[in-house]
Amino acid sequence: MSSSGPGPLLEGRTALITGGGGTIASATARLFADHGADVAIADIDAERTNQAVESVRERGRNSIGVVSDLTVDGAVEAAVDSAIDALSRVDILVNALGHAKNNFGPFQNSDSADWEWLYRMNLRHVYAASHRAVPAMIERGWGRVINFSSVEGQRSMPYAAAYTGFKGGIESFTKSLGVELAGYGVRVNAIAVDKTSSHQTGFYAMPPEYEEHVKVWVPAGRFGRGEDVANVALFLASDLAEWVVGHTVVADGGTLAAGGWFRTPQRWTNSPLLVQYFEDEDRNASRPWNLQ
Ligand SMILES: NC(=O)c1ccc[n+]([C@@H]2O[C@H](COP(=O)([O-])OP(=O)(O)OC[C@H]3O[C@@H](n4cnc5c(N)ncnc54)[C@H](O)[C@@H]3O)[C@@H](O)[C@H]2O)c1
Repeated sequence: MSSSGPGPLLEGRTALITGGGGTIASATARLFADHGADVAIADIDAERTNQAVESVRERGRNSIGVVSDLTVDGAVEAAVDSAIDALSRVDILVNALGHAKNNFGPFQNSDSADWEWLYRMNLRHVYAASHRAVPAMIERGWGRVINFSSVEGQRSMPYAAAYTGFKGGIESFTKSLGVELAGYGVRVNAIAVDKTSSHQTGFYAMPPEYEEHVKVWVPAGRFGRGEDVANVALFLASDLAEWVVGHTVVADGGTLAAGGWFRTPQRWTNSPLLVQYFEDEDRNASRPWNLQ
């Protein structure tokens, strides 16, 4: 078992993870398997799907892969059905599929095709997979739905208003469905992620000399890893989360809590460019006011 703490936490459980070949999702699959769960993986990328399936099997657990474009009508429902066929049920549904679409631009330049793409990639499948999987969870009196938002769903992201709208929608959906299902032993919660190295963030590849600057805006001092977020998913999937209903846990190394605060080499500031400018001792001599 790779995680610290009590365990195994998911003995005898079965899970389906959408976007399951992704960085956070595949780390979640490995951790769930370490904790005794069988895990189905649904992803559009065959190689990533196979790798995630193999990683679960290497841990002695059952797994199947469903290679499918989950944005297509009916596809995510079919993935739930395949997981039930292979693993007998879905106790834990992890709706990890999501993407910000990287060609940001002014809202007025976006069009209905952009919004539809973002809707299908981020929100629609969350409804559809939950709709398919939840009735059997209610019948069994136990279930978990774990959705994925973004810190940008709570804060803001200029040039990505539609994306943030759908991530915010996931959080509202999580809250309402969580309350609606609480009396049936089904817990619905979400994770809002930020700054975690992954396929879609390009693993934040940058020249080594820039790495020291990461701690300027990430209070934890580094980019996140899939495993950091998987630990939160494990908690929400387990009985430890029995008293947690309809919430979104922020997993971001501190970026949301920091708000507009940044750590320069000498101090914390909410005026980063000004302060860095004035940290230059020569210029400091003529500094006209006190900056935090
Ligand atoms: N990484 C971050 O910092 C971050 C920030 C905010 C939110 N999130 C959210 O966390 C979740 C996981 O993100 P990640 O960064 O690990 O992602 P990732 O890019 O590593 O993985 C995404 C996976 O989705 C799969 N996929 C893409 N299109 C698909 C489709 N049409 N059908 C099926 N599968 C498809 C890809 O093949 C890939 O394996 C997402 O919901 C994302 O929005 C992540």
